[in-house]
Amino acid sequence: MPAGEKILVSGVKPTGRPHIGNYFGAMKQFVELQGQYQSLVFIADLHAITTNQDAKTLHQDTLDLAIDYLAIGLDPAKTIIFRQSDILEHANLNWILNCLTTVPYLQRAHAYKDALAKNQEVNVGTFDYPILMAADILLYDADVVPIGQDQKQHLEYARDMAEKFNRVYGETFKLPNPLIIEDLKTIPGLDGQKMSKSKGNTIPLFSSDEEIKNLVMKIVTDSKTPEEPKDPKTCNIFALHELFSGSELVELSQRYKEGKISYKESKEILIANMIKFISPLREKRNLIAGDPEKVKAILQMGAKQARGLAQAKMAVIKEKVGLIL
Ligand code: TRP
Repeated sequence: MPAGEKILVSGVKPTGRPHIGNYFGAMKQFVELQGQYQSLVFIADLHAITTNQDAKTLHQDTLDLAIDYLAIGLDPAKTIIFRQSDILEHANLNWILNCLTTVPYLQRAHAYKDALAKNQEVNVGTFDYPILMAADILLYDADVVPIGQDQKQHLEYARDMAEKFNRVYGETFKLPNPLIIEDLKTIPGLDGQKMSKSKGNTIPLFSSDEEIKNLVMKIVTDSKTPEEPKDPKTCNIFALHELFSGSELVELSQRYKEGKISYKESKEILIANMIKFISPLREKRNLIAGDPEKVKAILQMGAKQARGLAQAKMAVIKEKVGLIL
């Protein structure tokens, strides 16, 4: 990679279809920034097996996510696209960092606390999730890591781990910076709560027109009549207009406030605008999905490039730790 160029690293877990919250929260940034940074974007399959232990589903979700990446516009000529599990150094660095990590420190992680609260039998992989993520990031000397709001604490863990390693073994890792779209409001799901796979309230990014219609019609609103003034700021439909109805926003907002629109009409406008945005993406995705061998070849090429970088860094790390003859 060209010397001096800043490095971007990010990943997404292959666990079912990505939704519009994933896209606007993080994935879109991968595409917008790929010319500005040396970018590495991977499929976090090792993270996925903390929850998905069905081989067939994982295999399908992995291939699907690679197709999704290409469909939203990640360009293999600009971004190294690869599978996390193809690069053994992620797990290797994970172990080295584990040995610098205390149990109470990991017990403070939100995701772990949430898992405990749900009374699940938490596996060690889930407990160790932030440290594998730190390894993903530090291995490539990332300068920036585009992530959704919910991943903020994980980035703090990665920075802490870099500092800890540098303190113990000498200057080795850069401190990565999160790239979070701060002014992005929480994207509400169909029920008005934060859109999230685990809540089953999502609109998939590559939905069919029919799905878009059905899902938008399910969005929860209050029971105001068409003539009543409505507050766009608290309306779940309007929150999605902000993502899809750019040129009509001012007018829509006015009609809301003046009581000149029904929720039904607002939904119909949203459906039309979402279809306009999603259908070309979906068509592109279908084309790419028609040639899975090409997608696999892209992942193999990406793995080769990422492996070169990871192995070079790992040699330095091993030397610092004393894992040498
Ligand atoms: N935890 C991230 C998520 O759920 C996925 C991820 C794994 C990641 N490793 C990463 C993101 C490294 C950024 C950098 O969305």
